[in-house]
Amino acid sequence: PEPSAADYIRSHIRTVPDWPHAGVQFRDITPLLSNPRVFRVLIDQFVHRYFDRKPDAIAGLDARGFIIGSVLAYELNIGFIPIRKKGKLPFTTVEERYELEYGSASVEIHTDAVRPGERIVLIDDLIATGGTMGAGARLLQRLGAEIVEGAAIVDLPELGGSQRLREAGLPLFTLLEFE
Ligand code: PRP
Ligand code: ADE
Repeated sequence: PEPSAADYIRSHIRTVPDWPHAGVQFRDITPLLSNPRVFRVLIDQFVHRYFDRKPDAIAGLDARGFIIGSVLAYELNIGFIPIRKKGKLPFTTVEERYELEYGSASVEIHTDAVRPGERIVLIDDLIATGGTMGAGARLLQRLGAEIVEGAAIVDLPELGGSQRLREAGLPLFTLLEFE
């Protein structure tokens, strides 16, 4: 049988064992980005999903969500909104904290990035514990956005993040999973 787009994309994700810590299998998307055929197949998966029900904008999570989110926004002819790690955005911001394996971190968005009622797709490369995607979703909700869904290339379901996010009421779309 013909391999699916998801299988094709998956075959270009590199697994780096024990990075950045012992025991972590790091799912590296750089081989996918450097290959123009795979990169196009990847972006087209998201373009086709949103083309007939275009959101008002794409919000992307720092840093790998910027790479796919900005290209997707360009293809859909809509705007791109960066959600950044704390301390990077120059104008007035709101902040949401999230838990890491050790300690916590914060993401920020500009207060004028979305208007109430705007329909936003929130995108990142990967969902692990779901902390990053969850914090990004809370930021958008605080500004009154309507989140169409969170979207990512990869879900790591064993970490439970995608399930927790869905149980908290965030619709999610992911292209493929790694156990
Ligand atoms: C990675 C990844 C997601 C997040 C997923 O980013 O790109 O944003 O972790 O993990 P979570 O579901 O447990 O929150 P990272 O924080 O490593 O930052 P980077 O994009 O700057 O490398
Ligand atoms: N972010 C959190 N966990 C990750 C993993 N296993 N691979 C790539 N990015 C990640």
